[in-house]
Amino acid sequence: MADLQLTDNAFQRLVHVMYRAAGLSFSENKRFLVQSRLAGRIQQLGLDSFEAYADVLCGPHAHGEMQAALDLLTTNETYFFREPEHFQVLEQHVTRWGHKRALRVWSAACSYGDEPYSIAMLLMDLQVSGKTSSGWSIVATDISHRVLLAAKEGIYPQDRLRAVSEDRLRRYCLRGDGQSDGLVMVQEKLRQHVQFGQLNLCQPLDTDWGLFDAIFLRNVLIYFDAPTKQEVADRVLQTLRPGGLFFVGTAEGRVVCRTPLDVVRPGVFRKKEAA
Ligand SMILES: C[S@@+](CC[C@H](N)C(=O)[O-])C[C@H]1O[C@@H](n2cnc3c(N)ncnc32)[C@H](O)[C@@H]1O
Repeated sequence: MADLQLTDNAFQRLVHVMYRAAGLSFSENKRFLVQSRLAGRIQQLGLDSFEAYADVLCGPHAHGEMQAALDLLTTNETYFFREPEHFQVLEQHVTRWGHKRALRVWSAACSYGDEPYSIAMLLMDLQVSGKTSSGWSIVATDISHRVLLAAKEGIYPQDRLRAVSEDRLRRYCLRGDGQSDGLVMVQEKLRQHVQFGQLNLCQPLDTDWGLFDAIFLRNVLIYFDAPTKQEVADRVLQTLRPGGLFFVGTAEGRVVCRTPLDVVRPGVFRKKEAA
């Protein structure tokens, strides 16, 4: 396997097929990443070259293998209450919005579910303290089937909940013991508020999603080139109600889109109300 070479032609074909399928953009400096992440899979499939793997991904039965390739080429890193300031902003706004309606939040690249369950912990706290009404719900989507299966299970190594307070851990999680020592499970009372589904952000939304009060699109735009970033941001923002909050990863820089937004703080925007 050491001499498996990623030829220019195979690299270009793989870049093209991943861009078409999921908007993923790999420039020349990602060549080693593509090579190193796919080499083991090619070996596992008994193929002898990157060209042969590109044939599979471009062929008529690519679907299952495309999921495997996507899983290898994307990073699903996430953890509970990542960028805690974002949750403070959400809390302030939800408190200000009061009981006007049952809140709806979309976690649009939810990975293993840490993000939607963090939002759920916050909204449940706000419900208990009478700051928001009880019918709130969270839609959590990702392109990866594998992470969604794990997210629905809601079981995590304890370290991923390092930013969760002891009090919230007690109220919203069950700690494993014996063989499950070191694992934590999110309780059903939170899980019932979160609906998981598979969604490719680079394709048109084929369901009527209604309007959300807040959308988290964090740490996924980094995969896309500039035109795709804008297209994805505008597509997602169609489903945000005017005055609603839009979160992106702070490290992802400025959001360029046609939808008018006000800046709230780094990585947080509010959709402008119609003039
Ligand atoms: C780094 S994780 C972000 C998780 C979480 N939002 C956070 O900030 O912690 C990025 C996720 O984006 C997903 N992703 C990549 N391309 C996507 C696409 N075209 N549509 C939907 N999800 C995508 C990946 O599967 C991965 O789970």
